[in-house]
Amino acid sequence: MSETAVLTRSPGRSLPQAAYTDPDVFAADLEHVWATGWLFAGHTCELDRPGAYLTRDVARDRVIVVRGEDGALHAHHDVCAHRGSRLTGADRGCVRAFVCPYHQWVYGTDGRLRAARHMGPDFPVDDYRLAPVAVREIEGLVFVSLAQDPPDIAGFAAALGPQLAPHRLAGTRVEARLHYRVAANWKTLVENNRECYHCRGSHPEFTLSNFDLGVHGDVRSHPRYEAALAEARARWARRGLPGEEVSFPGGAWYRIARLPLRDGFVTESLDGRPVAPFLGGLTAEDAGSLRIVGLPDMWAHANCDYAVTTRLSPVDAGTTDVDVCFLVRAEAGELDVDALTAVWRATSEQDWELCENNYAGIASRGYRPGPLSPVVEASVEGFLSWYTAALERGRTPA
Ligand code: FES
Ligand SMILES: [Fe+2]
Repeated sequence: MSETAVLTRSPGRSLPQAAYTDPDVFAADLEHVWATGWLFAGHTCELDRPGAYLTRDVARDRVIVVRGEDGALHAHHDVCAHRGSRLTGADRGCVRAFVCPYHQWVYGTDGRLRAARHMGPDFPVDDYRLAPVAVREIEGLVFVSLAQDPPDIAGFAAALGPQLAPHRLAGTRVEARLHYRVAANWKTLVENNRECYHCRGSHPEFTLSNFDLGVHGDVRSHPRYEAALAEARARWARRGLPGEEVSFPGGAWYRIARLPLRDGFVTESLDGRPVAPFLGGLTAEDAGSLRIVGLPDMWAHANCDYAVTTRLSPVDAGTTDVDVCFLVRAEAGELDVDALTAVWRATSEQDWELCENNYAGIASRGYRPGPLSPVVEASVEGFLSWYTAALERGRTPA
């Protein structure tokens, strides 16, 4: 069966075609990968007052994340306890209560059913609620888990918290949002993110400010990059900015790494200059670019003046939705949004074109798994090992 074909792949090669195109494998991905770990939902700054909510779709599942009256975050399946209708019509908003559009059952932000009309005098309102989903907030980023028994997130929180804290994302606003529907399997997008083999040929804006080195498992070295990294790490240490790289420890699902930018660039902009006021207590010399990767669904760069997050949402085997958000200091005045988004709008759109083109070939009769470069694609291999291990665990009874 097709799932077996995925698991019998040859290490060091891309996956068999079915892993990318077969609806059965896609269903296994949802079950064993997407519903077992932690997923990126959104940002604390979008949930800054009671009733503020956002939604996070994963194929047929939708999670509502909402700030409660008590200030705590709650997450629920967006499924009415009456006959199952969706409650939300919008991606985000602010409500006093969730009112089902079908028969108007009313739920508090804590998910408890408050009122259900015409259900008879003895109807036990307290017995019904929205099904809860695990949620965690870490330094301005919000994560949810569809697992019944979510894995411990403490290691990720401990690695991410201190490194992201200086950027104070909780005190930002979303200045720009880009939404894309990409005609490719979600793994094609993650593979693309896990190598910079393609950067020089495809990302002229990105490579202005970034070395195309520093991706985990890229064993190339260049004296100019090594010198910039050593100098930057010494500077970050002097300023008390933690700069330790934590890359998929023990095969884990996350990476946090602060990388230097090229000379003359304090941020990922076209001209090297900041495109927004500095975040938190950072200054131009401080920050480099903090890279955050969470498998299977997110990557983010936190710079001295803005952060950009990318969230993947699988739709079907050949379709992935992507949300890219740009965060700036909440009290920043009017900004040049074109300048703010220039690098990551271009880079994202270049990547989606590469992914769609890649997927078109993968889906065709002529596709065979191909060899990964041991020099620049070790992190693709790392992702594929992580992925196949997750499928394997899912097939093995606990
Ligand atoms: S399905 Fe929600 S009130 Fe009936
Ligand atoms: Fe890219």
